[in-house]
Amino acid sequence: MDPQIGMLFRCARACARTLASVMAPLWSLILVAASAQARDSTYPEKSALHHLTKTLLQKYHKEVRPVHKWNEATTVYLDLSVHAVLDVDAQNQKLKTSIWYREVWNDEFLSWNTSMFDEIREVSLPLSAIWAPDIIINEFVDIERSPNFPYVYVNSSGTIKNAKPIQVVSACSLETYAFPFDIQNCSLTFNSILHTVEDVNLAFIRSREDIEHDKKAFLNDSEWELLSVPSTYSILQSSAGDFAQIQFNVVIRRRPLVYVVSLLIPSIFLMLVDLGSFYLPPNCRARIVFKTSVLVGYTVFRVNMSDEVPRSAVSTPLIGIFFTVCMAFLVLSLSKSILLIKYLHDGRRSEPKRPLLCLRGGSDADVVTRTDPRIQPVGVTESPNGQEHQVHSGTLKEVWSQLQSLSNYLQVLEQVDRQEIDWLTLLYRFDQLLFRSYLLVLGLYTITLGSLWALWRSL
Ligand SMILES: *[C@@H]1O[C@H](CO)[C@@H](O)[C@H](O)[C@H]1NC(C)=O
Ligand SMILES: *[C@@H]1O[C@H](CO)[C@@H](O)[C@H](O)[C@H]1NC(C)=O
Ligand SMILES: *[C@@H]1O[C@H](CO)[C@@H](O)[C@H](O)[C@H]1NC(C)=O
Ligand SMILES: *[C@@H]1O[C@H](CO)[C@@H](O)[C@H](O)[C@H]1NC(C)=O
Repeated sequence: MDPQIGMLFRCARACARTLASVMAPLWSLILVAASAQARDSTYPEKSALHHLTKTLLQKYHKEVRPVHKWNEATTVYLDLSVHAVLDVDAQNQKLKTSIWYREVWNDEFLSWNTSMFDEIREVSLPLSAIWAPDIIINEFVDIERSPNFPYVYVNSSGTIKNAKPIQVVSACSLETYAFPFDIQNCSLTFNSILHTVEDVNLAFIRSREDIEHDKKAFLNDSEWELLSVPSTYSILQSSAGDFAQIQFNVVIRRRPLVYVVSLLIPSIFLMLVDLGSFYLPPNCRARIVFKTSVLVGYTVFRVNMSDEVPRSAVSTPLIGIFFTVCMAFLVLSLSKSILLIKYLHDGRRSEPKRPLLCLRGGSDADVVTRTDPRIQPVGVTESPNGQEHQVHSGTLKEVWSQLQSLSNYLQVLEQVDRQEIDWLTLLYRFDQLLFRSYLLVLGLYTITLGSLWALWRSL
């Protein structure tokens, strides 16, 4: 080994030893400093936020309404925006909506001086640790579902903000008369369940116009369209005291297009097909088959569609009445066709029997009595003089009687024909009447629906 290199090695080893001896206490110093710093940040007692929260809650009593003067009311400010209409149940008269609900009130015991707490302006506190108003929705018929948010926001002047989404199932009188074109008006009334207006008063956060026309959060692509949310403040007077209440009316309109396409148009088509059957001659038997198939088709259609039409105990939708009237017309026109065929058939079958036979029987007897004298003279009188004369008169009489019987027969035929024609004209007239009332009902219904649609479109 090169002695120079050996020297270098020795020097390096010595250097390392001295460096290590110098660094050992330094390392321990660095470690102590780092651990001290870590201990500093793991102890929350040192943080301003912790200090503030502790200071606020230490002497707080959540049982006490947070006012300095007992006769001062706590005003709770409310806000609501409709997020979605989840279900409209006309049969049970229930409305299920999802709303964003916000309430703000002032807590006089939860305020601080920001310059004493590191300029903290807002802090979140557990809701369970502070006083909160007991505001409920009056119309609820099912447990309101809302995610449990444990915290509220408090700012340095003691204003508390609480916001949460709620799924409300509320009772609402749903009007289904104008079914695919209906507008529903359901109210959500907020009030304190216990506190009278002297203790807890209510007010709006935003202006009422803003709330009324707020559709920003509303999900647009559902069956229902949000028209407006008008609201009113009122004081409910009852034996237990006067209660402040705020009522929001959720006004929604159904989008009718899907029902027009799936319910109204097929039904009108079926009626038009049945109308077409009036162009078949009324005594045509194929008409019965045709009408029966339309009736069967209509029944199948109604059974299929019965789930789509809302059923409610109080009012029947106009469209249901229309379907029933259409069905009644189908049945009426079918029974009329059956009657017509029955009378025509009866007439044809009894034609050779009753009217014709009994009339022809009379004429037969007539013919026999007339021919009798012809036979008698031929057999009895045998004078050669008058024989030619008598033969002549005999043939003439025969011809005469034959002609008479022929004319009788024709008369009878004509009479039967006239009877048949009378029946036919009567039935034709009935047919016409039915056809016209059909057209009238269909026209009336179309006009009613059209004008209703136009009216509600313009709202
Ligand atoms: C907040 O505290 C600072 C300093 O302690 C003080 O100067 C100030 O007056 C206080 N403000 C209020 C509103 O008490
Ligand atoms: C606290 O919030 C209320 C309502 O938002 C506001 O009026 C008040 O000025 C706020 N206080 C502070 C100190 O920011
Ligand atoms: C909704 O109903 C309330 C009463 O419950 C009524 O005051 C309000 O005018 C109605 N709104 C509409 C748009 O029909
Ligand atoms: C719904 O439509 C309205 C306007 O018609 C719009 O202002 C709103 O942002 C829409 N909402 C959603 C969730 O798309």
